[in-house]
Amino acid sequence: MSDTPRYRCYAAPVRTNLDETDARRLLTGGPVSIVTSSYRGHHNAAPVAYVMPLSWRPPLIGIAMHPSRYSYDVIHKTEEFALNIPTRELLHHVQYLGSLSGADVDKLELTKLPHFRARKLDTVLLEGCVGWIECSLDDTIEVGDHFLLVGRVVAVQADNDAFKDRWLLDDNELKPLHYLGMNHYSILDYVMEARIPQTAEEYGRRLDEAVAEQLELTHQGEEQRAQEDFEREEFRKREGFERS
Ligand SMILES: Cc1cc2nc3c(=O)[nH]c(=O)nc-3n(C[C@H](O)[C@H](O)[C@H](O)COP(=O)(O)O)c2cc1C
Repeated sequence: MSDTPRYRCYAAPVRTNLDETDARRLLTGGPVSIVTSSYRGHHNAAPVAYVMPLSWRPPLIGIAMHPSRYSYDVIHKTEEFALNIPTRELLHHVQYLGSLSGADVDKLELTKLPHFRARKLDTVLLEGCVGWIECSLDDTIEVGDHFLLVGRVVAVQADNDAFKDRWLLDDNELKPLHYLGMNHYSILDYVMEARIPQTAEEYGRRLDEAVAEQLELTHQGEEQRAQEDFEREEFRKREGFERS
């Protein structure tokens, strides 16, 4: 067993080896987005969870999209797409939009989702969202079975009550929706502020405090484990079990 004290956890954890393809599940959890794109006046909307910032200057964001998506074709024809960041009001819509293809149905017509004109692109943005990012398609890079669509941001809007420099998280109705996989979603709970010590002495003092706290926890954990071992042994003796 390692000598390193564990943070606030007494027992050694049981770790499960997962499949390599499960790495993506562990990294899933950022805000889900709905991609809107339009071709010849027909608007389409499809959820994407594989979304990431790529660069500050120029402002680039990436979405990983499977080439089988209808949105993939539209985005390559028009060279633009918008991301809409939904709240929990659109929870069921998000799942539904991801179960249908714009190649087969007009999803916005079907869902009657209210929408409005994008600022810079020739597409629409969705109501019920708290953030909107409009992009021109900058590049497409093949990555495994998906393609990374690199979007150059040309316009961004956010709901004032939901976002000011960061997500505010004051109101559950105005929090971005996060995707956990399958048909499971979540919202963030609360904001925590990390404080960094200003001086070397303060850093040393805080470090000493943290180490002392961890040692105390480890000590308590060891005592608790010894007591549990003792009780198990007593139980075995009492019940006449042989040690295996
Ligand atoms: C929550 C959620 C997240 C999804 N994320 C992605 C994604 O990141 N990339 C992708 O290619 N497809 C993703 N999908 C699947 C597409 O949204 C789905 O195939 C959709 O029907 C495509 O619509 P379209 O054919 O109209 O473009 C996701 C689906 C859901 C429900």
